[in-house]
Amino acid sequence: MRTLETDRLIIRAFTLQDADTYARLLDAAFGADSYGPPEEKRVVFEYQVAADAGLALLHQPPYGDRAIVLRSSGEIVGSVGFAPCLMPFGQLPSFEPTTKFTSEVGLFWALFPEHWRKGYATEAAAAMVSYAFNQLRLRRIVATTENDNARSVGVMRRLGMRLERNPLAEPAWFQTVGILDDLPLA
Ligand SMILES: CC(C)(COP(=O)(O)OP(=O)(O)OC[C@H]1O[C@@H](n2cnc3c(N)ncnc32)[C@H](O)[C@@H]1OP(=O)(O)O)[C@@H](O)C(=O)NCCC(=O)NCCS
Repeated sequence: MRTLETDRLIIRAFTLQDADTYARLLDAAFGADSYGPPEEKRVVFEYQVAADAGLALLHQPPYGDRAIVLRSSGEIVGSVGFAPCLMPFGQLPSFEPTTKFTSEVGLFWALFPEHWRKGYATEAAAAMVSYAFNQLRLRRIVATTENDNARSVGVMRRLGMRLERNPLAEPAWFQTVGILDDLPLA
């Protein structure tokens, strides 16, 4: 996937030199070792780097985390990316009812806490949404989070996503979903 640019940000593929920054980001944004010990975070990171080139060669959608870089300084402030979501979307009010899991293209975002409250996540995610609708010709994009993740829900709202909650207790990890449709002009 090509590099995207916004007013303040560059959104680019991770390179192997970013390994330590990526591990620090996962720990800082989600809690120490919530993505596993260092060797597991390294596997996840190397997968992200390989995915960027590999999926392009396979003509597959550009899933994977990408670096959010400040244009002004070159500093990596976070990550944003497309993620394959295989979840019970049919439990949500606006989806065709089914007890089966279905697949949607999701958006992931995370910033170093010192870079929260500057609008970087929404700015980066908006560029990814634009790419998804205009280049990938995606009909719909989603984002998922826990009901109490107000900051992530805030990004969903600022992107213009419709918010829906899983009305059932199960699965416990399937909670708030933001949905954005690229509707044809009337
Ligand atoms: C979720 C997360 C990325 C949101 O970060 P964020 O900084 O709150 O979101 P944004 O980048 O959209 O910033 C919006 C905030 O910046 C403020 N802001 C300041 N300057 C701004 C500017 N120039 N432009 C836009 N917004 C600006 C907005 O007012 C808003 O603040 P508020 O929510 O206090 O009203 C961040 O909290 C995070 O990394 N969390 C941990 C990882 C995580 O949970 N990821 C989701 C996985 S499900």
